[in-house]
Amino acid sequence: MLNPVKVGVLGLGTVGCGTVNVLQRNAEEITRRAGRGIVVTHGSARDLAKPRICQTSGMKLTQDPFDVVNDPEVEIVAELIGGTELAKELVLKAIEQGKHIVTANKALIAIHGNEIFEAAQAKGVMVAFEAAVAGGIPIIKAIREGLSGNSIEWLAGIINGTGNFILTEMRDKGREFSDVLAEAQELGYAEADPTFDVEGVDAAHKLTILASIAYGVPLQFEKVYTEGITKITREDVQYANELGYRIKHLGIAKRQENGIELRVHPTLIPHKRLIANVDGVMNAVLVKGDAVGSTLYYGAGAGAEPTASAVVGDLVDVVRALTSDPENRVPHLAFQPNALSDVAVMPMEDIETSYYLRMTALDRKGVLAQVTSLLSDNDISIEAIIQKQVGDADSVTIVILTHDVKEASVNQAIQNIEALEGIEGQVMRMRLENLKG
Ligand code: HSE
Repeated sequence: MLNPVKVGVLGLGTVGCGTVNVLQRNAEEITRRAGRGIVVTHGSARDLAKPRICQTSGMKLTQDPFDVVNDPEVEIVAELIGGTELAKELVLKAIEQGKHIVTANKALIAIHGNEIFEAAQAKGVMVAFEAAVAGGIPIIKAIREGLSGNSIEWLAGIINGTGNFILTEMRDKGREFSDVLAEAQELGYAEADPTFDVEGVDAAHKLTILASIAYGVPLQFEKVYTEGITKITREDVQYANELGYRIKHLGIAKRQENGIELRVHPTLIPHKRLIANVDGVMNAVLVKGDAVGSTLYYGAGAGAEPTASAVVGDLVDVVRALTSDPENRVPHLAFQPNALSDVAVMPMEDIETSYYLRMTALDRKGVLAQVTSLLSDNDISIEAIIQKQVGDADSVTIVILTHDVKEASVNQAIQNIEALEGIEGQVMRMRLENLKG
Protein backbone atom coordinates (compact mmCIF):
# COMPACT_ATOMS: atom_id res chain seq x y z
CA MET A 1 0.00 0.00 0.00
CA LEU A 2 1.09 3.56 -0.68
CA ASN A 3 2.43 5.76 2.13
CA PRO A 4 -0.17 7.59 4.22
CA VAL A 5 -1.32 10.98 2.95
CA LYS A 6 0.00 13.85 5.07
CA VAL A 7 -2.54 16.37 6.27
CA GLY A 8 -1.86 19.73 7.85
CA VAL A 9 -4.61 20.96 10.17
CA LEU A 10 -5.00 24.71 10.63
CA GLY A 11 -6.69 25.24 13.99
CA LEU A 12 -6.57 22.66 16.75
CA GLY A 13 -9.77 23.80 18.48
CA THR A 14 -13.11 21.99 18.74
CA VAL A 15 -13.31 20.83 15.12
CA GLY A 16 -9.56 20.47 14.53
CA CYS A 17 -9.11 18.24 17.55
CA GLY A 18 -12.31 16.34 16.73
CA THR A 19 -10.81 15.60 13.32
CA VAL A 20 -7.51 14.43 14.81
CA ASN A 21 -9.36 12.16 17.23
CA VAL A 22 -11.62 10.60 14.60
CA LEU A 23 -8.70 10.01 12.23
CA GLN A 24 -6.71 8.36 15.01
CA ARG A 25 -9.56 6.26 16.40
CA ASN A 26 -10.86 4.99 13.07
CA ALA A 27 -7.49 4.82 11.28
CA GLU A 28 -7.82 1.20 10.21
CA GLU A 29 -11.30 1.51 8.67
CA ILE A 30 -10.50 4.87 7.09
CA THR A 31 -7.45 3.33 5.40
CA ARG A 32 -9.57 0.47 4.06
CA ARG A 33 -12.03 2.97 2.64
CA ALA A 34 -9.56 5.45 1.20
CA GLY A 35 -6.99 2.96 -0.03
CA ARG A 36 -4.30 4.86 1.89
CA GLY A 37 -3.76 5.99 5.45
CA ILE A 38 -4.56 9.60 6.33
CA VAL A 39 -2.34 11.10 9.01
CA VAL A 40 -2.27 14.57 10.53
CA THR A 41 1.45 15.31 10.45
CA HIS A 42 1.29 19.10 10.85
CA GLY A 43 -0.86 21.34 12.99
CA SER A 44 -1.17 25.00 13.85
CA ALA A 45 -2.84 26.73 16.77
CA ARG A 46 -2.85 30.35 17.89
CA ASP A 47 -1.65 29.36 21.36
CA LEU A 48 0.22 26.08 21.60
CA ALA A 49 0.33 26.26 25.39
CA LYS A 50 -3.47 25.90 25.65
CA PRO A 51 -4.79 22.50 26.79
CA ARG A 52 -6.26 20.44 23.91
CA ILE A 53 -8.80 17.66 23.62
CA CYS A 54 -6.58 15.67 21.23
CA GLN A 55 -3.22 13.96 21.17
CA THR A 56 -0.73 15.98 19.12
CA SER A 57 2.50 14.17 19.92
CA GLY A 58 4.39 13.27 16.75
CA MET A 59 2.92 16.26 14.86
CA LYS A 60 4.97 19.20 13.67
CA LEU A 61 3.30 22.04 15.60
CA THR A 62 3.49 25.75 15.02
CA GLN A 63 1.70 28.95 15.99
CA ASP A 64 2.04 30.26 12.44
CA PRO A 65 -0.47 28.60 10.08
CA PHE A 66 1.63 29.68 7.07
CA ASP A 67 4.33 27.23 8.23
CA VAL A 68 1.84 24.42 7.58
CA VAL A 69 0.65 25.81 4.27
CA ASN A 70 4.23 26.31 3.06
CA ASP A 71 5.56 22.92 4.15
CA PRO A 72 6.16 20.86 1.00
CA GLU A 73 5.41 17.63 2.90
CA VAL A 74 1.76 18.58 3.44
CA GLU A 75 -0.53 17.29 0.67
CA ILE A 76 -3.92 18.33 2.05
CA VAL A 77 -4.64 21.40 4.17
CA ALA A 78 -7.64 21.16 6.49
CA GLU A 79 -8.65 24.75 7.20
CA LEU A 80 -10.46 24.72 10.53
CA ILE A 81 -9.68 28.15 11.96
CA GLY A 82 -12.89 29.88 10.83
CA GLY A 83 -13.19 33.56 9.97
CA THR A 84 -12.83 34.93 6.48
CA GLU A 85 -9.78 37.06 5.83
CA LEU A 86 -6.86 35.05 7.24
CA ALA A 87 -8.58 31.82 6.19
CA LYS A 88 -8.89 33.09 2.62
CA GLU A 89 -5.24 34.08 2.48
CA LEU A 90 -4.16 30.69 3.80
CA VAL A 91 -6.41 28.73 1.47
CA LEU A 92 -5.35 30.69 -1.63
CA LYS A 93 -1.68 30.27 -0.65
CA ALA A 94 -2.17 26.52 -0.18
CA ILE A 95 -3.92 26.24 -3.55
CA GLU A 96 -1.09 28.16 -5.21
CA GLN A 97 1.28 25.52 -3.85
CA GLY A 98 -0.82 22.72 -5.34
CA LYS A 99 -2.34 21.52 -2.08
CA HIS A 100 -5.89 20.22 -1.79
CA ILE A 101 -8.21 21.91 0.67
CA VAL A 102 -10.78 20.59 3.08
CA THR A 103 -12.65 23.23 5.04
CA ALA A 104 -15.49 23.51 7.52
CA ASN A 105 -15.66 27.27 7.01
CA LYS A 106 -19.11 28.30 5.74
CA ALA A 107 -18.38 32.03 5.97
CA LEU A 108 -15.27 31.55 3.83
CA ILE A 109 -17.11 29.56 1.16
CA ALA A 110 -20.24 31.75 1.17
CA ILE A 111 -18.26 34.97 0.85
CA HIS A 112 -15.08 34.05 -1.04
CA GLY A 113 -16.07 30.68 -2.54
CA ASN A 114 -16.38 31.93 -6.13
CA GLU A 115 -12.79 33.22 -6.08
CA ILE A 116 -11.43 30.18 -4.24
CA PHE A 117 -13.04 27.70 -6.64
CA GLU A 118 -11.69 29.59 -9.62
CA ALA A 119 -8.17 29.45 -8.20
CA ALA A 120 -8.53 25.75 -7.39
CA GLN A 121 -9.78 24.95 -10.86
CA ALA A 122 -6.90 26.81 -12.47
CA LYS A 123 -4.43 24.88 -10.32
CA GLY A 124 -6.19 21.49 -10.63
CA VAL A 125 -6.70 20.94 -6.90
CA MET A 126 -9.77 19.96 -4.93
CA VAL A 127 -11.67 22.08 -2.43
CA ALA A 128 -14.10 20.09 -0.28
CA PHE A 129 -16.49 21.71 2.20
CA GLU A 130 -19.06 19.16 3.39
CA ALA A 131 -18.54 20.24 7.02
CA ALA A 132 -19.52 23.81 6.18
CA VAL A 133 -23.25 23.02 6.14
CA ALA A 134 -25.28 21.16 8.76
CA GLY A 135 -22.29 19.69 10.65
CA GLY A 136 -22.28 15.93 10.34
CA ILE A 137 -25.15 15.58 7.85
CA PRO A 138 -23.75 14.82 4.39
CA ILE A 139 -26.17 17.26 2.79
CA ILE A 140 -23.76 18.62 0.18
CA LYS A 141 -23.12 15.12 -1.08
CA ALA A 142 -26.83 14.27 -0.98
CA ILE A 143 -27.82 17.28 -3.11
CA ARG A 144 -24.78 17.41 -5.36
CA GLU A 145 -24.57 13.67 -6.06
CA GLY A 146 -27.53 11.70 -4.78
CA LEU A 147 -30.20 14.09 -6.09
CA SER A 148 -28.40 15.17 -9.25
CA GLY A 149 -31.16 13.73 -11.43
CA ASN A 150 -33.73 16.10 -9.92
CA SER A 151 -34.80 19.60 -10.51
CA ILE A 152 -34.81 20.92 -6.93
CA GLU A 153 -38.09 22.74 -6.26
CA TRP A 154 -37.28 23.95 -2.77
CA LEU A 155 -35.30 23.22 0.33
CA ALA A 156 -35.85 24.29 3.91
CA GLY A 157 -33.48 23.61 6.74
CA ILE A 158 -32.78 24.05 10.41
CA ILE A 159 -29.12 24.79 9.79
CA ASN A 160 -27.94 26.55 12.92
CA GLY A 161 -27.57 24.21 15.88
CA THR A 162 -27.04 26.97 18.43
CA GLY A 163 -30.26 28.77 17.47
CA ASN A 164 -32.24 25.57 17.50
CA PHE A 165 -30.80 24.67 20.90
CA ILE A 166 -31.85 28.05 22.27
CA LEU A 167 -35.41 27.81 20.87
CA THR A 168 -35.82 24.27 22.19
CA GLU A 169 -34.62 25.09 25.70
CA MET A 170 -36.83 28.21 25.83
CA ARG A 171 -39.84 26.16 24.81
CA ASP A 172 -39.25 23.05 26.92
CA LYS A 173 -37.68 24.50 30.03
CA GLY A 174 -38.65 28.16 29.92
CA ARG A 175 -34.96 29.08 30.10
CA GLU A 176 -33.62 32.54 29.37
CA PHE A 177 -32.11 33.27 25.98
CA SER A 178 -28.74 34.47 27.27
CA ASP A 179 -28.36 31.58 29.67
CA VAL A 180 -28.86 28.98 26.90
CA LEU A 181 -26.54 30.86 24.56
CA ALA A 182 -23.79 30.77 27.20
CA GLU A 183 -24.23 26.99 27.45
CA ALA A 184 -24.04 26.61 23.65
CA GLN A 185 -20.77 28.57 23.72
CA GLU A 186 -19.39 26.34 26.45
CA LEU A 187 -20.30 23.23 24.47
CA GLY A 188 -18.41 24.56 21.44
CA TYR A 189 -21.54 24.89 19.26
CA ALA A 190 -21.59 28.66 18.87
CA GLU A 191 -19.55 30.72 16.43
CA ALA A 192 -16.59 32.78 17.70
CA ASP A 193 -18.96 35.72 17.32
CA PRO A 194 -22.27 34.30 18.61
CA THR A 195 -24.30 37.10 17.02
CA PHE A 196 -23.68 35.12 13.80
CA ASP A 197 -25.79 32.33 15.30
CA VAL A 198 -28.60 34.35 16.83
CA GLU A 199 -28.89 36.98 14.08
CA GLY A 200 -29.12 34.35 11.35
CA VAL A 201 -25.81 35.14 9.65
CA ASP A 202 -24.41 31.63 10.10
CA ALA A 203 -27.61 30.12 8.66
CA ALA A 204 -27.42 32.59 5.75
CA HIS A 205 -23.84 31.47 4.99
CA LYS A 206 -25.03 27.88 4.88
CA LEU A 207 -28.15 28.64 2.85
CA THR A 208 -25.98 30.48 0.30
CA ILE A 209 -23.97 27.29 -0.21
CA LEU A 210 -27.02 25.01 -0.35
CA ALA A 211 -28.76 27.23 -2.89
CA SER A 212 -25.74 27.31 -5.19
CA ILE A 213 -25.53 23.55 -5.13
CA ALA A 214 -29.26 23.11 -5.62
CA TYR A 215 -29.70 25.66 -8.41
CA GLY A 216 -26.27 26.01 -10.02
CA VAL A 217 -26.03 29.73 -9.26
CA PRO A 218 -22.90 31.58 -8.03
CA LEU A 219 -22.55 32.04 -4.29
CA GLN A 220 -24.34 35.28 -3.36
CA PHE A 221 -24.50 35.67 0.38
CA GLU A 222 -25.30 39.37 0.20
CA LYS A 223 -28.66 38.61 -1.43
CA VAL A 224 -30.00 36.37 1.36
CA TYR A 225 -32.81 37.92 3.44
CA THR A 226 -31.60 37.37 7.00
CA GLU A 227 -33.53 37.56 10.26
CA GLY A 228 -32.44 36.00 13.54
CA ILE A 229 -34.18 34.67 16.64
CA THR A 230 -33.42 37.49 19.07
CA LYS A 231 -36.91 39.01 18.97
CA ILE A 232 -38.75 35.80 19.81
CA THR A 233 -40.16 35.75 23.33
CA ARG A 234 -41.20 32.84 25.49
CA GLU A 235 -44.81 33.99 24.99
CA ASP A 236 -44.46 33.70 21.19
CA VAL A 237 -43.26 30.16 21.66
CA GLN A 238 -46.28 29.41 23.88
CA TYR A 239 -48.85 31.05 21.61
CA ALA A 240 -47.49 29.20 18.59
CA ASN A 241 -47.74 26.02 20.62
CA GLU A 242 -51.39 26.66 21.53
CA LEU A 243 -52.16 27.17 17.86
CA GLY A 244 -50.54 23.86 16.96
CA TYR A 245 -47.22 25.19 15.66
CA ARG A 246 -43.55 25.12 16.58
CA ILE A 247 -41.23 28.04 15.90
CA LYS A 248 -38.11 27.02 14.03
CA HIS A 249 -35.39 29.15 12.51
CA LEU A 250 -35.32 28.08 8.87
CA GLY A 251 -33.19 28.73 5.83
CA ILE A 252 -35.38 28.46 2.74
CA ALA A 253 -34.44 28.37 -0.93
CA LYS A 254 -37.26 28.03 -3.43
CA ARG A 255 -37.36 28.10 -7.20
CA GLN A 256 -40.02 30.44 -8.57
CA GLU A 257 -40.85 31.40 -12.13
CA ASN A 258 -39.01 34.66 -11.83
CA GLY A 259 -36.07 33.68 -9.66
CA ILE A 260 -34.98 31.98 -6.48
CA GLU A 261 -36.17 32.85 -3.00
CA LEU A 262 -33.32 32.95 -0.49
CA ARG A 263 -34.44 33.67 3.04
CA VAL A 264 -33.51 32.93 6.65
CA HIS A 265 -36.01 33.70 9.42
CA PRO A 266 -38.04 32.28 12.32
CA THR A 267 -40.94 30.27 10.93
CA LEU A 268 -44.06 28.62 12.36
CA ILE A 269 -44.34 25.00 11.29
CA PRO A 270 -47.31 22.67 12.03
CA HIS A 271 -46.15 20.67 15.04
CA LYS A 272 -46.83 17.33 13.37
CA ARG A 273 -44.20 17.85 10.66
CA LEU A 274 -41.10 15.79 11.26
CA ILE A 275 -38.91 18.86 10.92
CA ALA A 276 -40.91 20.65 13.63
CA ASN A 277 -39.66 17.98 16.04
CA VAL A 278 -35.99 18.48 15.33
CA ASP A 279 -34.76 19.74 18.68
CA GLY A 280 -31.62 20.86 20.48
CA VAL A 281 -28.46 21.17 18.49
CA MET A 282 -29.79 18.85 15.80
CA ASN A 283 -30.11 20.10 12.23
CA ALA A 284 -32.40 18.86 9.47
CA VAL A 285 -32.79 19.77 5.82
CA LEU A 286 -35.91 19.02 3.79
CA VAL A 287 -35.24 18.89 0.06
CA LYS A 288 -38.06 18.65 -2.48
CA GLY A 289 -36.94 17.29 -5.84
CA ASP A 290 -39.30 16.95 -8.80
CA ALA A 291 -38.51 13.26 -9.21
CA VAL A 292 -37.85 12.05 -5.68
CA GLY A 293 -40.45 14.19 -3.87
CA SER A 294 -39.63 15.32 -0.32
CA THR A 295 -36.53 13.95 1.37
CA LEU A 296 -35.34 14.74 4.89
CA TYR A 297 -31.78 14.70 6.22
CA TYR A 298 -31.26 14.86 9.96
CA GLY A 299 -28.30 14.83 12.33
CA ALA A 300 -26.03 16.77 14.65
CA GLY A 301 -25.37 20.20 13.18
CA ALA A 302 -22.47 21.26 15.38
CA GLY A 303 -19.92 19.90 17.83
CA ALA A 304 -16.45 18.40 17.63
CA GLU A 305 -16.99 14.92 16.26
CA PRO A 306 -20.14 15.44 14.15
CA THR A 307 -18.30 18.20 12.26
CA ALA A 308 -15.16 16.07 12.18
CA SER A 309 -17.22 13.31 10.60
CA ALA A 310 -17.82 15.56 7.59
CA VAL A 311 -14.21 16.82 7.51
CA VAL A 312 -12.87 13.27 7.53
CA GLY A 313 -15.40 12.23 4.87
CA ASP A 314 -13.98 14.97 2.65
CA LEU A 315 -10.40 13.89 3.41
CA VAL A 316 -11.31 10.36 2.32
CA ASP A 317 -12.88 11.74 -0.87
CA VAL A 318 -9.75 13.70 -1.73
CA VAL A 319 -7.49 10.75 -0.98
CA ARG A 320 -9.62 8.44 -3.10
CA ALA A 321 -9.35 10.83 -6.01
CA LEU A 322 -5.57 11.01 -5.55
CA THR A 323 -5.08 7.32 -5.13
CA SER A 324 -7.56 5.02 -6.70
CA ASP A 325 -8.56 4.10 -10.18
CA PRO A 326 -10.19 7.29 -11.52
CA GLU A 327 -12.96 5.22 -13.12
CA ASN A 328 -13.88 3.89 -9.68
CA ARG A 329 -13.22 6.88 -7.47
CA VAL A 330 -15.74 5.73 -4.91
CA PRO A 331 -15.44 1.97 -4.45
CA HIS A 332 -18.69 0.16 -5.23
CA LEU A 333 -18.96 -1.15 -1.70
CA ALA A 334 -17.39 1.94 -0.06
CA PHE A 335 -14.25 0.04 1.01
CA GLN A 336 -11.44 -0.71 -1.45
CA PRO A 337 -12.13 -4.13 -3.09
CA ASN A 338 -9.01 -5.72 -1.57
CA ALA A 339 -9.94 -4.39 1.88
CA LEU A 340 -13.34 -6.02 2.32
CA SER A 341 -13.61 -7.91 5.58
CA ASP A 342 -15.40 -11.12 6.40
CA VAL A 343 -17.05 -10.01 9.63
CA ALA A 344 -19.86 -12.51 10.27
CA VAL A 345 -23.53 -11.62 10.04
CA MET A 346 -24.99 -12.48 13.45
CA PRO A 347 -27.57 -15.25 13.66
CA MET A 348 -30.96 -13.83 14.61
CA GLU A 349 -30.98 -15.97 17.78
CA ASP A 350 -28.00 -13.99 19.16
CA ILE A 351 -29.56 -10.59 18.64
CA GLU A 352 -30.62 -8.70 21.77
CA THR A 353 -33.57 -6.35 21.84
CA SER A 354 -36.80 -5.75 23.74
CA TYR A 355 -40.07 -7.43 22.86
CA TYR A 356 -43.80 -6.82 22.81
CA LEU A 357 -45.64 -10.07 23.50
CA ARG A 358 -49.40 -10.41 23.12
CA MET A 359 -51.32 -13.55 24.05
CA THR A 360 -54.82 -14.70 24.88
CA ALA A 361 -55.23 -16.47 28.22
CA LEU A 362 -58.13 -18.19 29.95
CA ASP A 363 -59.34 -15.99 32.75
CA ARG A 364 -58.26 -18.43 35.46
CA LYS A 365 -56.31 -18.23 38.63
CA GLY A 366 -52.56 -18.75 38.17
CA VAL A 367 -52.27 -18.37 34.38
CA LEU A 368 -50.57 -14.98 34.54
CA ALA A 369 -48.27 -16.29 37.26
CA GLN A 370 -47.31 -19.24 35.03
CA VAL A 371 -46.54 -16.88 32.13
CA THR A 372 -44.36 -14.56 34.22
CA SER A 373 -42.52 -17.44 35.81
CA LEU A 374 -41.76 -18.93 32.38
CA LEU A 375 -40.38 -15.57 31.32
CA SER A 376 -38.25 -15.40 34.41
CA ASP A 377 -37.03 -19.00 33.88
CA ASN A 378 -35.78 -17.85 30.49
CA ASP A 379 -33.97 -14.86 31.97
CA ILE A 380 -36.49 -12.36 30.64
CA SER A 381 -37.27 -9.33 32.73
CA ILE A 382 -40.62 -7.54 32.32
CA GLU A 383 -40.79 -3.80 31.74
CA ALA A 384 -44.58 -3.40 31.58
CA ILE A 385 -47.65 -5.58 31.61
CA ILE A 386 -51.33 -5.03 30.69
CA GLN A 387 -54.21 -7.45 31.15
CA LYS A 388 -57.57 -6.75 29.48
CA GLN A 389 -60.90 -8.57 29.42
CA VAL A 390 -61.96 -9.45 25.86
CA GLY A 391 -65.72 -8.64 25.69
CA ASP A 392 -67.60 -10.94 28.08
CA ALA A 393 -65.68 -14.03 26.99
CA ASP A 394 -63.90 -16.25 29.45
CA SER A 395 -60.51 -15.03 28.26
CA VAL A 396 -58.18 -12.08 28.68
CA THR A 397 -55.53 -10.43 26.54
CA ILE A 398 -52.12 -10.11 28.16
CA VAL A 399 -49.59 -7.70 26.70
CA ILE A 400 -46.04 -7.71 28.01
CA LEU A 401 -43.08 -5.47 27.22
CA THR A 402 -39.73 -6.99 28.10
CA HIS A 403 -36.35 -5.45 28.79
CA ASP A 404 -33.51 -6.30 26.38
CA VAL A 405 -33.04 -10.02 26.00
CA LYS A 406 -31.60 -12.47 23.47
CA GLU A 407 -33.94 -13.62 20.70
CA ALA A 408 -33.11 -17.25 21.58
CA SER A 409 -34.51 -16.81 25.11
CA VAL A 410 -37.69 -15.23 23.78
CA ASN A 411 -38.14 -18.06 21.27
CA GLN A 412 -37.84 -20.59 24.08
CA ALA A 413 -40.19 -18.65 26.36
CA ILE A 414 -42.82 -18.31 23.61
CA GLN A 415 -42.65 -22.02 22.92
CA ASN A 416 -43.16 -22.78 26.63
CA ILE A 417 -45.98 -20.24 26.99
CA GLU A 418 -47.84 -21.55 23.95
CA ALA A 419 -47.68 -25.04 25.51
CA LEU A 420 -49.53 -23.88 28.66
CA GLU A 421 -53.07 -25.13 29.01
CA GLY A 422 -54.30 -21.69 29.95
CA ILE A 423 -53.00 -20.02 26.76
CA GLU A 424 -55.11 -19.97 23.61
CA GLY A 425 -53.48 -19.89 20.19
CA GLN A 426 -50.13 -18.33 19.44
CA VAL A 427 -48.17 -15.60 21.13
CA MET A 428 -47.84 -12.53 18.92
CA ARG A 429 -44.33 -11.08 19.13
CA MET A 430 -42.91 -7.80 17.88
CA ARG A 431 -39.42 -6.47 18.47
CA LEU A 432 -39.12 -3.04 20.09
CA GLU A 433 -36.29 -0.60 19.35
CA ASN A 434 -35.91 2.62 21.30
CA LEU A 435 -33.70 4.12 18.59
CA LYS A 436 -32.17 6.52 21.08
CA GLY A 437 -29.79 8.92 19.37
N1 HSE B 1 -22.40 27.76 15.13
C1 HSE B 1 -22.78 26.73 14.22
C2 HSE B 1 -24.12 26.16 14.68
C3 HSE B 1 -21.72 25.65 14.19
O1 HSE B 1 -24.49 26.37 15.84
O2 HSE B 1 -24.79 25.52 13.90
C4 HSE B 1 -21.89 24.68 13.06
O3 HSE B 1 -21.77 25.29 11.82
